[in-house]
Amino acid sequence: MTSSQRILVTGATGAVGSAIVRRLTAARHDVYGVSSRGGPSPRQLAWRIGAEEPPGELRGPWDAVVHCAADTRWSLTVEEAEQANVAPLRALLKWMDDDTHFVHLSTSYATGLTGSVEPTSADAYRNTYEWSKAAAERLITSERASADIVRFPIVMGARDDGFLERYSGFFWLPAAMCSGAVPALVAEKDAYLDMVSTDDVAEHVRALAGQGPPGEVRLAILGGGDGAPRIVETFDTVLAAINGWREENGIPEIRPLPYVTMDQWNRFYLPFAREYLDRVQLMRVTAFQAYQGYLSVTEPFDVTHSVEPIVPTIFRSIRRWAEKHESTARRIPRPWRP
Ligand SMILES: NC(=O)c1ccc[n+]([C@@H]2O[C@H](COP(=O)([O-])OP(=O)(O)OC[C@H]3O[C@@H](n4cnc5c(N)ncnc54)[C@H](OP(=O)(O)O)[C@@H]3O)[C@@H](O)[C@H]2O)c1
Repeated sequence: MTSSQRILVTGATGAVGSAIVRRLTAARHDVYGVSSRGGPSPRQLAWRIGAEEPPGELRGPWDAVVHCAADTRWSLTVEEAEQANVAPLRALLKWMDDDTHFVHLSTSYATGLTGSVEPTSADAYRNTYEWSKAAAERLITSERASADIVRFPIVMGARDDGFLERYSGFFWLPAAMCSGAVPALVAEKDAYLDMVSTDDVAEHVRALAGQGPPGEVRLAILGGGDGAPRIVETFDTVLAAINGWREENGIPEIRPLPYVTMDQWNRFYLPFAREYLDRVQLMRVTAFQAYQGYLSVTEPFDVTHSVEPIVPTIFRSIRRWAEKHESTARRIPRPWRP
């Protein structure tokens, strides 16, 4: 199937969805987008999937629906995560024709702490976001005879210039480093931190659209796998990118943060923090704890589609983040004192 297709992209204003819309449009498909609040173009409609009826303009048939819409926060309750990431999928599956090519974007971390999306208990996952993404995959497998599920890890910007529509998730880290919000990196230095570019995901989806619907529920896992950058290389790259930008702008460089193990953190830093830090400092430290599980992954993901080396893209994405978030990138870290 190579001719122009009518394709709907959900979550079209997001970091990944917007890159997919651009790529499919460049490939001359007839692309529409939806998101909770809608977007600036007449082809970007508002539809809070799962909570509202679709606007009339979205009447089918659609050759393909690419489902990027999600709430990626880790702080939701199980019920909220279900409402945010499973209920909209259920509504979408009900609304779509059976012969529409359904492409669902998931995350490599949907396999949680056990390496599988099968466990139904939230305890098997690092957070309710992972739990809801696993539940979404299970729902597709049980409801559809044909679909593409595409898992990928942390997303960086475009390979040539680091551009991202939204810098969220991982970009909390450079922000925290500039503000001094974290006192140390709680991480295994040799752990894998797998990442892809929005280009990798968008190109994969473009290729899938060209192939048409598969005869089964098919899983693709994008990433670097055992070639993914390690923590040390990633953090060195983040620091080099921030400091390069700071030097050009006449701002003192940030010093590298010390690494501490999870054990050291839990036994020394956290009890100290609880006793001596003020409420705001303690909130930051606690928020940072949510990242620990992602910075100690010693088994690489089994990938089905290896991406090109990502470190230069990390560098460009952090620089681009600094340009876009100048006031944060200019901050002088506050020293950690009780
Ligand atoms: N970013 C990553 O590092 C990463 C890594 C792995 C997998 N993923 C997956 O990639 C997909 C896209 O993530 P992203 O980072 O691009 O997210 P994002 O930047 O937060 O964008 C989320 C998009 O979904 C829309 N949305 C959320 N709930 C909706 C609903 N009920 N109905 C309609 N639209 C809704 C949002 O619209 P509004 O802006 O109007 O609210 C926004 O357009 C998700 O499935 C995520 O799980 C992301």
